[in-house]
Amino acid sequence: MLDYHREIILILDFGSQYTQLIARKIRELGVYCEILPFNVGLDEITSRNPKGIVLSGGPKSVNEVDAPVCDPAIFHLGIPILGICYGLQLTVKLFGGRVEKSVKREYGMAHLAVEEKALLLDGIQDGNVVWMSHQDKVLKMPDGFKTIAHSDNSPHAAIKSLDGGIYGVQFHPEVHHTQKGKKILRNFLYKICKTKGFFSPKSFVDLATEKIKEQVGGGKVVCALSGGVDSSVVATLIHRAIGKNLHCVFVNNGVLRKNEAEEVLDLFKDRLHMNLKYVDAEDMFLAVLKGVKDPERKRKIIGRTFIKIFEAEAKNIGDVRYLAQGTLYPDVIESTSFKGPSATIKSHHNVGGLPRRMKLTLLEPLRELFKDEVRIVGKELGLPDNLVYRQPFPGPGLAIRIIGDVTRERLHILKEADSIIRDEIERNNRFRHVWQSFAILIPVKTVGVMGDERTYANVITLRVVESKDGMTADWTKLPYAILDKVSRRIINEVPGVNRVVYDISSKPPSTIEWE
Ligand code: XMP
Repeated sequence: MLDYHREIILILDFGSQYTQLIARKIRELGVYCEILPFNVGLDEITSRNPKGIVLSGGPKSVNEVDAPVCDPAIFHLGIPILGICYGLQLTVKLFGGRVEKSVKREYGMAHLAVEEKALLLDGIQDGNVVWMSHQDKVLKMPDGFKTIAHSDNSPHAAIKSLDGGIYGVQFHPEVHHTQKGKKILRNFLYKICKTKGFFSPKSFVDLATEKIKEQVGGGKVVCALSGGVDSSVVATLIHRAIGKNLHCVFVNNGVLRKNEAEEVLDLFKDRLHMNLKYVDAEDMFLAVLKGVKDPERKRKIIGRTFIKIFEAEAKNIGDVRYLAQGTLYPDVIESTSFKGPSATIKSHHNVGGLPRRMKLTLLEPLRELFKDEVRIVGKELGLPDNLVYRQPFPGPGLAIRIIGDVTRERLHILKEADSIIRDEIERNNRFRHVWQSFAILIPVKTVGVMGDERTYANVITLRVVESKDGMTADWTKLPYAILDKVSRRIINEVPGVNRVVYDISSKPPSTIEWE
């Protein structure tokens, strides 16, 4: 069994917005890597036996009193190091060079002039475009280092130690705008760190399957299947490892999209033959939501009711020892790296508290993966595209897209309208280009005219946004023809709706969901 952990690159995080991108790119190049806080202990680093270390960029200036500094001993371990932006400046400073704030911030494209064909720049031509984003710059190089490339504004755009063990780049090879960025990272991995490239979707699936078998043995695992990407991939992976000892529970809370429950049952029960318990709890959820208008209360009630049902089902299975969860790598980093305090705008974690209450051991086979990688693993496992590329769907479902009371009638209207926008987005091949596209039912009625009749009916809002991670989002400038078709279809096909409007607000200052 090929264990891709055998060659690992460690990325020390100095707080750059691009740190996760560095990790993504290195893994895309076939080498497993992990992100650690910049001040991680030397023992932790050496115990991982890394093939190389990357020092990320960061928002601070190396000359500030509270500038983050890693243990300088890492430079003397004989492990290749690549400093990116702040990482380069820190290297220069720690080796006795001088870094100062320049008057002009260098931001955007620059052209690289190669001075020495060092291993890092192998295959990189003069004039290649690189992406810069820094204010500090190197004024004096430390002894034992030399410049291997410059740009108009950065006389030391790429540097190396004379023994060739330490490299630094002022620009960001991890961002898309750096023309040969991937090639530079590849040079670092394969030419300098001498990695072989063990990490791939297949090596992940093979190892994860083995590890699950080993951890679980003949024990039973319970998994809450929602039909979302993460829980679907978790369930499929565990099923591959332990078959019928995996027990999935799918709770239909009534606030799912049209046909969603049927699709989940069809795939996981009928086609993949998983042990799947379907719980139709629509009536119960609608009863507890009755009269609740406040969005945070809706979230809490839905979360609590879900836990109650899930716990009861797990008890029914009997003798369960493990709870499967779709924890991803960004959640793991979040809990270990340094993070500034951020205000809670909406409480998004719906099933928090479940593992502790149920006294089960957690099984988290996706802990090492980024979201994109989960999708790739899903494909490797043979899951269909419409599931693997599914849009994010909030745990409280349509309940937070029905502003005000959630009633059976209003739910029906929203499900129908929502299925029309989903359908048109797919038909017009927009699905993979947008982050989310959905309908919202607002508690407003307006006057309309149908035939010769006056109507007084509901308004549907359409929300279509583009985003990379849901943290910020831009409203999608859909062609009028598509908007027109969606609007006509909703008004003609969904009784009780006589007006459709399009939400043209971005996040921030708005949010993606309306509640
Ligand atoms: P907002 O509305 O905060 O949404 O801009 C950002 C992303 O999070 C999703 N979202 C939720 N997901 N439970 C979830 O699992 C929730 O309560 C919840 N609220 C919002 C939203 O769909 C978007 O992708």
